[in-house]
Amino acid sequence: MQNAWWHDAVVYQIYPRSFYDTNGDGIGDLNGIIEKLDYLHWLGVNVLWLSPVYQSPMDDNGYDISDYCAIAPEFGTMEDMTRLIDKAGALGIKIVMDLVVNHTSDEHPWFQAALQDKNSPYRDFYIWRDAKPDGSAPDDQGSIFGGSAWQWEPNTEQYYFHLFSKRQPDLNWENPAVHDAVYTMMNWWIDKGIGGFRLDVIDFIGKEIDKGITGNGPRLHPLLQAMNRATFGDKDLLTVGETWGATPEIAKLYSAPERNELSMVFQFEHITVTWKDGDKWQPVPLDVAALKQVLFKWQQELADSGWNSLFWNNHDLPRAVSKFGHDGQYRTRSAKMLATTLHLMRGTPYIYQGEEIAMTNVTFPSIDDYQDIETRNFYDLRVAEGVDPDTMMEAVYQNSRDNARTPMQWENAPQAGFTQGTPWLPVNPNYTTINVARATENSGSVLYHYRQLIKLRKQYPVIVHGQFAPVEESHPNVMAYERFDDTHRILVVSNFSEQKQTITLPAHWHDKALTCLSYNMDPVKQLSTTYKLAPYESFAVML
Ligand code: GLC
Ligand code: CA
Repeated sequence: MQNAWWHDAVVYQIYPRSFYDTNGDGIGDLNGIIEKLDYLHWLGVNVLWLSPVYQSPMDDNGYDISDYCAIAPEFGTMEDMTRLIDKAGALGIKIVMDLVVNHTSDEHPWFQAALQDKNSPYRDFYIWRDAKPDGSAPDDQGSIFGGSAWQWEPNTEQYYFHLFSKRQPDLNWENPAVHDAVYTMMNWWIDKGIGGFRLDVIDFIGKEIDKGITGNGPRLHPLLQAMNRATFGDKDLLTVGETWGATPEIAKLYSAPERNELSMVFQFEHITVTWKDGDKWQPVPLDVAALKQVLFKWQQELADSGWNSLFWNNHDLPRAVSKFGHDGQYRTRSAKMLATTLHLMRGTPYIYQGEEIAMTNVTFPSIDDYQDIETRNFYDLRVAEGVDPDTMMEAVYQNSRDNARTPMQWENAPQAGFTQGTPWLPVNPNYTTINVARATENSGSVLYHYRQLIKLRKQYPVIVHGQFAPVEESHPNVMAYERFDDTHRILVVSNFSEQKQTITLPAHWHDKALTCLSYNMDPVKQLSTTYKLAPYESFAVML
């Protein structure tokens, strides 16, 4: 496969609202990101993906955009944005923008024009249908945030379609005028010097409502090829699609280079193994064997075509260490184990802000303390349907998006050093011990562990491009694999359990002098037939 710069890049995701506040209004801002660039450079990341910072009424924290070419005042100005792109660029860091084009905000001028007048050229930018004869919605398609996907609009007497909140009307991608407007906007950003796009819920743009198709519609890939041609195709940018419905087969359609669509996609199969029947509000304990089966499958299926993204968490998901590791006595050890396991796989790794210091989930006392629209909607819906409120609160503690959104923990100071004011969402009280300042002072911290893994990726091409092979694949609690090319062979072994485990190792690892690349207990210098792992122990060695 031809090398691309994003093959050996490590991406850091920033949720700007919760990253660093410089003016005391309790909301993180672009100047806050600028102030922390040295930290990010020290960590070694090459790309910052910013969750949306565009003008927005913030019904869904910016994933509802009312002006794609303006910055929300709470985040700063377009001058700040330009400064961020330039200053990051000077440090060799590219900025990836979040492209939300499945829908806009209901406050976007296009939707406002569509609302006023059925004959407006913007009417057809959105999806409108008549009511059924009895006045009810055109069909029973549900919204991902709960309730119907159809909203009655009394002024023009039709329903409009919204897969997310009713304040996020879906754009009509069957209308070529929508393509042109979106491409113009994308090219405007590309001309500003950004490094790429993360394409929000992109697998929905090929929807065919009247056939009941939302995800992975037949028009999806032709649309992406057209977008590629009209915008980033000849620009060498990183493009990553958010695709909850992707199987490896589908991921190859998006990311096989000769198809000219995207660099890679985020798949979510390893996330949903902890959901009962695909329902995030019915969390189930981690099944390590199932998790391993999914991760290894993706490594193997995309070996010859396409490219993987690697991530444990993002702004929509619980904290990695709480979900896949142990956020009590083994917090540090298990966070390092998760990092090693993921970062030595084949693909582009993504770190979500705070993951590098092993920030944890939060347990606010009441549902009223939660801000996230999805969490609040589903709490009300499920409790109304008869789910016990305590059971629902437990699900919120496990999987609410606000787990990821509590402010970044910078230091042991009021509000974790995130703001001089009152943060928009309370800080996790554990900031007194879990914070960047403390991690920076300790070379044995999770932070230094991440920094080391990022360095290794730059040092050894085998980590980026090498082949992948499972080791003792049937082990129920240990995830072990090899990476190899003509010059190197790496063995990664991780215990995903609170118990000691024993693994049997292939003969080519026995009694050799090994380089230990990564460890969270004692460095491993030599191996024999079996190795006994402590709880959550993990190591990587190289021949
Ligand atoms: C994506 C975003 C999420 C947002 C949704 C609607 O899933 O990651 O935060 O709520 O799309 O835009
Ligand atoms: Ca601010």
